[in-house]
Amino acid sequence: MKDIQNELVLILDFGSQYTQLIARRVREQGVYSEIKPYNYPLEKIKALKPKGIIFSGGPASVYQPDAPLLGEEIFNLRIPILGICYGLQLISHLIGGTVAKADHREYGHAMLEIFQSDPLLENISLKSRVWMSHGDQLVDLPPKFIVLGRTENSPYGLIRHQKKKIYGLQFHPEVAHTEQGIKIIKNFVYNIAGCHGLWTPKSFIKSSVNHIRDQVGSDKVICALSGGVDSSVAAVLVHHAIGNQLACVFVNNGVLRSNEAEEVREIYHNHFKMNFHYVDASHNFLSRLKCIIDPEQKRKIIGGEFIKTFEVVAKEIGDVKYLVQGTLYPDIIESVSTKGPSAVIKSHHNVGGLPEKMNLKLIEPLRELFKDEVRQVGRELGLSERIVSRHPFPGPGLAVRILGEITLERLEIVRQADKIFIDELHKSDYYNKVWQAFAVLLPIQTVGVMGDERTYESVIALRAVTSEDAMTADWAKLPSELLGSVANRIINEVKGVNRVVYDISSKPPSTIEWE
Ligand code: XMP
Repeated sequence: MKDIQNELVLILDFGSQYTQLIARRVREQGVYSEIKPYNYPLEKIKALKPKGIIFSGGPASVYQPDAPLLGEEIFNLRIPILGICYGLQLISHLIGGTVAKADHREYGHAMLEIFQSDPLLENISLKSRVWMSHGDQLVDLPPKFIVLGRTENSPYGLIRHQKKKIYGLQFHPEVAHTEQGIKIIKNFVYNIAGCHGLWTPKSFIKSSVNHIRDQVGSDKVICALSGGVDSSVAAVLVHHAIGNQLACVFVNNGVLRSNEAEEVREIYHNHFKMNFHYVDASHNFLSRLKCIIDPEQKRKIIGGEFIKTFEVVAKEIGDVKYLVQGTLYPDIIESVSTKGPSAVIKSHHNVGGLPEKMNLKLIEPLRELFKDEVRQVGRELGLSERIVSRHPFPGPGLAVRILGEITLERLEIVRQADKIFIDELHKSDYYNKVWQAFAVLLPIQTVGVMGDERTYESVIALRAVTSEDAMTADWAKLPSELLGSVANRIINEVKGVNRVVYDISSKPPSTIEWE
């Protein structure tokens, strides 16, 4: 993947919550970006030959004892640098400016006034709103720096070195609240760093197809297909590269959504003509799940049973050397600040354990991509919008959406309720406005009336969230008419349900799934 990655913008992470957003904004401009921790060795930085380097913001103060710092040598590499917030303070601190605690911690909107033209500010209006979030600020410019713009509280809000391509912004251009932030990032990558915009879904596919062919040769490859976006795009991409050297395995674990197995078979077997193995292991999974109510135990059972099933099929296929995994870029970023706590709160099994156990080498064709890029690549490969914009679905499936015991009857209830909710979201055009939506079956019964009869039946909770990356999420403000008609349909059409509630908790402190 040398060609398109030759044009790299490196992002050094100083702990900002927005670091991934910076990387995505750069990629949206058609330029490849990677995130590395702030203390990534200089020799390695040189070896990557980045066209530009962005210092992220971060919560620290340059004066605190354990502040994340770096050596001044970086400024002599002749690589353009853009420091954001803490990044600006760090540049200034290292080059001889003075940073001090601001009189007021500045958080929220400010008005940026520009009074010098510069290639970084091409097509930027002289006054615009920017987003601020800082406690310290620059009070004395470093030598040889000039001021390009200011806000009321930050006289040195936008600075640059007179000769070198070193810039600092006190505000955050990566967040949507900064009106012209994207233009500034675009100007940095094109006008300052001299990139050309080689990073497109098409160029990614082309170079990854070549790479997969080189890597695999004539060996056999296997892929566990879940029907979700990541494994689907990974499988179709690898199929594009090596055709029927790839075998896809889809395991029906008994806790799938309504019609899922049929839809997946239709797409991969009939439409893409892939070498597709459908294994109905639902009986094994469900009998192992009988009477289990602890969520972690459910996950472990499903993970273990999945590996067993997969091993059997792999043996039948024979002589497999590689396993395709839909690992994404956020999973592998080498930085603590970008990892949320959720990874350790639940044991996300996916296909964990398989490669070591079966002595398989990994192919992870999406490991450089963010989720939105995976979707674009999927579209380019001809996957339907229905698959590409599908909500995430957890590996343990409906097992973690049925609180308490999993029985056939309870599975049917949650399946039907889920289907109604999703159908209504599609009909009302809300499906693509939320990150994820689903129904949960609660382990309680409540009293109701149906005709003249008293009922004592189950409760369905509806969950819909908006999110950027599932690390944090907000409950979706769906219209009450929509929620009303979903609830009505569920109570009327799903036998055994007499009450529907809507979950209005955000993550944190809640999680997206209920178990
Ligand atoms: P939580 O519930 O941790 O979910 O806020 C974050 C995202 O991860 C998905 N999720 C899982 N995915 N196996 C998976 O493959 C799991 O065990 C699992 N648990 C949660 C969840 O659907 C959401 O998108």
